[in-house]
Amino acid sequence: MHFSREEKMLQKMAGEFARGELRPIAADIDREERIPREVIQKMAGVGFTALNVPKEYGGPGLAGISNVCKVLVISELARECASTAEVIAVHTLVNDIFLKHGNEAQKRKYLSAAAAGKIGAFALTEANAGSDASAAATRAVPDGDDYVLDGSKCFISNMGPNEGDYVVVIALTDPKRGTRGMSAIVVDRNTPGFTIGKREEKMGLRGADISELIFENCRVPKSNLIGRENEGFKIAMQALDGGRIGMAAQALGISDAAIAASIEYMGQRVQFGKPIGKLQGLQWYLADMATRTEAARALVLEAAEAADAGEPFTKLASMCKYFASETAVWVTNKALQIHGGYGYMRDYPLERMYRDARIVPIYEGTSEIQKVVIARELLK
Ligand code: CAA
Repeated sequence: MHFSREEKMLQKMAGEFARGELRPIAADIDREERIPREVIQKMAGVGFTALNVPKEYGGPGLAGISNVCKVLVISELARECASTAEVIAVHTLVNDIFLKHGNEAQKRKYLSAAAAGKIGAFALTEANAGSDASAAATRAVPDGDDYVLDGSKCFISNMGPNEGDYVVVIALTDPKRGTRGMSAIVVDRNTPGFTIGKREEKMGLRGADISELIFENCRVPKSNLIGRENEGFKIAMQALDGGRIGMAAQALGISDAAIAASIEYMGQRVQFGKPIGKLQGLQWYLADMATRTEAARALVLEAAEAADAGEPFTKLASMCKYFASETAVWVTNKALQIHGGYGYMRDYPLERMYRDARIVPIYEGTSEIQKVVIARELLK
């Protein structure tokens, strides 16, 4: 794909930012399990927290409020620090909800906040509602001018001790109607009755907050409803379509990083009297890693272009998320093999990439769910 001049500039800027600001601290972010707030502020300064936010709400007004630009930025960030890329990917999904479904006042409040570096979260998953999102049981009972939320959400990205300023919660406003009785409601971090529970200890993406959220008699004004009452499930599904392109971009960045690390290692590491890059067995690994990654990139950009053109893109979003995420797991596994024992050690970034990649075929819909979505779209 040929990028426009603005897209190339944005990609270059994101790459420079990632190498300059994230590369030196990516291992610390992983070890210390937090992304320094200054990093988020710096990202806000260059427009990454407002990737899809129009200028009128404080966005950078890049050529850029497109899905293609989102892919370019997220993949560049993920090359250096997948945790940071994840924060931006999920946050961009939340921006998208306000952009598509928010009223003017909500756009002014939350998109401007996003542009200034506040971070949004999206709460759909519950202990008994993972792949089956329709089983969500958190209630938002209408009461006068308010909704009263009760229930709990789990594995929620972008909310925890370090991150998260507001969260879009999918809750039942009319339980009899199942998915047709769910609404999207924004809850600010310090709202009474809303507490952030356990921050999960994770295999990878350790820098990013992923937590349990608890709502107990949590009262918010009805003006916090996003879109129409009982339309929340569709809002969530649409948001996930766009979000899955962001996750696929994250996977691309991890694959790119693993390939780059492997090329460097294959040039340096000498065994049997020559650099291991001369060994055909490892060359074939590398060729497959690069070929699969480029195929994934083509699919991710096709999905992004379809979304930007206003075409239906549910199927392509699921295809690219499925393929790019499985590719990242495969590529990092092979890269680790190329690195041998060194790849297993924390001194090399490969083990982090391998751990970071492993979540991507799971969150924002498992690979199995993506295949369900793809098949349903084909059979329509
Ligand atoms: N766009 C718009 N509307 C959609 C839609 C889409 N892509 N997909 C479904 N809908 C609508 C349907 O048209 C239907 O509407 P009607 O009631 O008017 O007919 C309604 O939503 C219900 O759809 P389904 O009958 O297809 O629902 P289902 O119960 O069979 O579930 C599913 C579909 C695809 C399996 C869905 O449950 C799903 O995507 N599950 C995975 C959940 C997921 O991805 N969770 C990730 C959590 S977020 C996360 O991980 C973020 C993070 O922190 C990193």
